[in-house]
Amino acid sequence: MSAVTYRSFAKVNLHLQVVGRRADGYHELRTVFQSIDLHDLVTVEPGGAAVELTVVEGEAPRGEANLAWRAAAAYLERFGGAAGVSGARLALAKRVPAGGGLGGGSSNAATVLAGLDQQLGAPAPPGELWRLARELGADVPFFLVGGTALGVGRGDEVVPLPDLEERDVWLAMPAVAVSTAEVFSALPNLTAQPLDSRIMGLVQRRMSGALSAWVVRNDLEPVVFGRFPEVRDVYDALAAAGADAVQMSGSGATLFALFRDPEEAMRAAVRLPSGCRLERARTLSRSTLTARRIVDEGLRGG
Ligand code: C5P
Repeated sequence: MSAVTYRSFAKVNLHLQVVGRRADGYHELRTVFQSIDLHDLVTVEPGGAAVELTVVEGEAPRGEANLAWRAAAAYLERFGGAAGVSGARLALAKRVPAGGGLGGGSSNAATVLAGLDQQLGAPAPPGELWRLARELGADVPFFLVGGTALGVGRGDEVVPLPDLEERDVWLAMPAVAVSTAEVFSALPNLTAQPLDSRIMGLVQRRMSGALSAWVVRNDLEPVVFGRFPEVRDVYDALAAAGADAVQMSGSGATLFALFRDPEEAMRAAVRLPSGCRLERARTLSRSTLTARRIVDEGLRGG
């Protein structure tokens, strides 16, 4: 079998609305995902008797504690038999900060699912691949689609949206670890509400205009800002530097800002609390993402 290395791109949530609690303990979301070019590398080589995972750069859990490992194990258990494969070797180079609301682990899992399926000749019916992604985590299905997409349900029912302009986004990463489960459980009482009318208007017109128009709100911000005042300080610093839009991604603590030019971003950088990183990234359309997904295809061995 050959080893193929994939770019496993991160995301930001341009919009994140929490509209209710569900009987399954999750929350009902209306969210708009956007792929960005910040990425991990994931090498997938089907073969062997079991799933083996090596972390070659950065930090990530090993073995079963890693969602990418679980993705491979679950995929092979269900669909490996048809291809006569029961194991895989995985290697990860981690560059996306963990626990920052950028979806790094979920992206790795989706990359493994799509990579194995592609390399084994697509034995999984598309609906089954989708179901497996949803079982692994609420953010995983988006990463099978990428680009710009609307997520409803737990965020795992994903509708692709037309590509938006690609532009720079600046990621501010406070040195704070946020627990997604804790943030959701600290939400005040929720009243059912429709998809925010601004997003509804953009979706209905299938508008492909300015990215800034899609940065509407994140209902998890007040909870995170209340618990971690330093995250609000970062938000205030980015806004004071003149950003066109600033918002938290997912359950944080990463914030993203749209600046007109790098000079404006540099002015923001000097206002940030110490320990907070500021990094430039670029949004990715689905077509760019697809073109850049594979890094290199290893030579087919024996
Ligand atoms: O699905 P995932 O493991 O990524 O979700 C992490 C946690 O975030 C869940 O255990 C749940 O507490 C919370 N969550 C939620 N509603 C969602 C997504 C996540 O309550 N739609």
